Amino acid sequence: MIQGKWFAPGNDLSAEVLPVREAVFGITGEKTDPEGWNALVYLDDHPAASGRIWWKEDAFWIGSVGVLPEFRGQRIGDLVLRLLLFKAQSHAAREVRLSCPRETEGFFARLGFQAVSSDNETVEMTLDGKEISLDSCASCKKQNCPNRK
Ligand SMILES: CC(C)(COP(=O)(O)OP(=O)(O)OC[C@H]1O[C@@H](n2cnc3c(N)ncnc32)[C@H](O)[C@@H]1OP(=O)(O)O)[C@@H](O)C(=O)NCCC(=O)NCCS
Repeated sequence: MIQGKWFAPGNDLSAEVLPVREAVFGITGEKTDPEGWNALVYLDDHPAASGRIWWKEDAFWIGSVGVLPEFRGQRIGDLVLRLLLFKAQSHAAREVRLSCPRETEGFFARLGFQAVSSDNETVEMTLDGKEISLDSCASCKKQNCPNRK
């Protein structure tokens, strides 16, 4: 079973979020995140993935989207990103921005992010708040799926 959980600014991240982040990115964060909301996704009660969203300079920023290597390729990263975009959308975000490694640009582009600048390693991307689309049927290629009305 897949479940999601939100950690509000100031919540203790040390037991569940930080171990995932450390395993994916190799860095240990602070015990609490005073400015950001953190999403954690569990697969069969095992913390599998996390991501972070915060407000800075007129935009929401998404970062630290990471899935433990053993759980990749099961759409868990997609779920984390959608949770973060839902949070932005529910706060009527005008713009969502992020900075990601070049090799993950396509992952974020799937949900509408467009590159605004890049260097050899990193791409900065933006998504207009009005363009956030969480309708997974819209981009699905299965036109005859019974879930389509
Ligand atoms: C990028 C990452 C979060 C993807 O997580 P994941 O759970 O393996 O991805 P999903 O299974 O949810 O993939 C969903 C879709 O995105 C695609 N996708 C996944 N990784 C991709 C990538 N690096 N580039 C392009 N597309 C990608 C998948 O093929 C899938 O496509 P589909 O809808 O056509 O089937 C994961 O590989 C990761 O943690 N990477 C290391 C951390 C990192 O670099 N994070 C990003 C910067 S903050």
